[in-house]
Amino acid sequence: MLTTRQLHFSYQDEPVLQDLTLDFGRHAVTGLVGANGCGKSTLFMNLTGILRPQRGAVLWQGEPLGYDKRSLRALRQRVATVFQDPEQQIFYTDIDSDIAFSLHNLGMDKPLIAQRVDRALQLVDAQGFRHKPVQHLSHGQKKRVAIAGALVMEAEYLLLDEPTAGLDPAGRQQMIAIIERIVAEGKRVIISSHDIDLIYQICDYLYVLSDGRLISSGETAQVFMQQALLATAGLVQPWLVKMHSELGLPLCKTEEQLFMLWRQRGVEKM
Ligand SMILES: Nc1ncnc2c1ncn2[C@@H]1O[C@H](COP(=O)(O)OP(=O)(O)O)[C@@H](O)[C@H]1O
Ligand SMILES: [Mg+2]
Repeated sequence: MLTTRQLHFSYQDEPVLQDLTLDFGRHAVTGLVGANGCGKSTLFMNLTGILRPQRGAVLWQGEPLGYDKRSLRALRQRVATVFQDPEQQIFYTDIDSDIAFSLHNLGMDKPLIAQRVDRALQLVDAQGFRHKPVQHLSHGQKKRVAIAGALVMEAEYLLLDEPTAGLDPAGRQQMIAIIERIVAEGKRVIISSHDIDLIYQICDYLYVLSDGRLISSGETAQVFMQQALLATAGLVQPWLVKMHSELGLPLCKTEEQLFMLWRQRGVEKM
């Protein structure tokens, strides 16, 4: 289980995260929401031990993280992270080598590596561009390669920092399908995003941050019904929640669900 306890983090003297006690083990998909600059990426870097809190702790299975090389290496086999910019995570020009890299480092057998790489590429729909050089890939394709590079570890937790940032509508839709597939595999997923409609569709539970502090937490629909609170955090309601709270339409989780109800009942009986 991945949790934090009264975590405080500052860059130099600038406090960024304050008193965060969070539990990412309770729900399949936990969302971390808040305006730009509220500290989401900084929290992710604390969760994987890239940054170290000055006060409080990140806990793995109830124990504070160790920050020596060996402990961090062990942690990253259980908690894999995909950062916003895929360029930071792809080191090879050849996709298969890039994804296999961390497994070679672990000294895994070649046939097992090949199996794991195949599976990871399949999960992110990358079979079609697998043999292209990385520099010829689109941003969305690079993002999928970065995700495959994390999936190959078969970690229990997958942390996705702004998974839909910079994607076109089709790329965003595909990313949602990929995340749903990963969730169906039984992993714990943590998603940070200001793509509020994505968070609404995918997450079970939310933590809302404002200026590095936790201002609310709860089941996704419950949090998104609190308009004033969202405004404090610099956020707006997802459009499906607005259809409910402004127009009195049924609260639907997806647009397909809303459109189906509309077709079945007709607009006057919604
Ligand atoms: N390396 C850094 N050094 C100093 N300040 C930083 C650094 N990285 C981020 N910050 C600051 O920390 C705050 C939180 O940033 P970040 O974690 O990137 O937020 P988010 O991911 O929610 O947009 C911002 O005010 C940002 O300017
Ligand atoms: Mg960020």
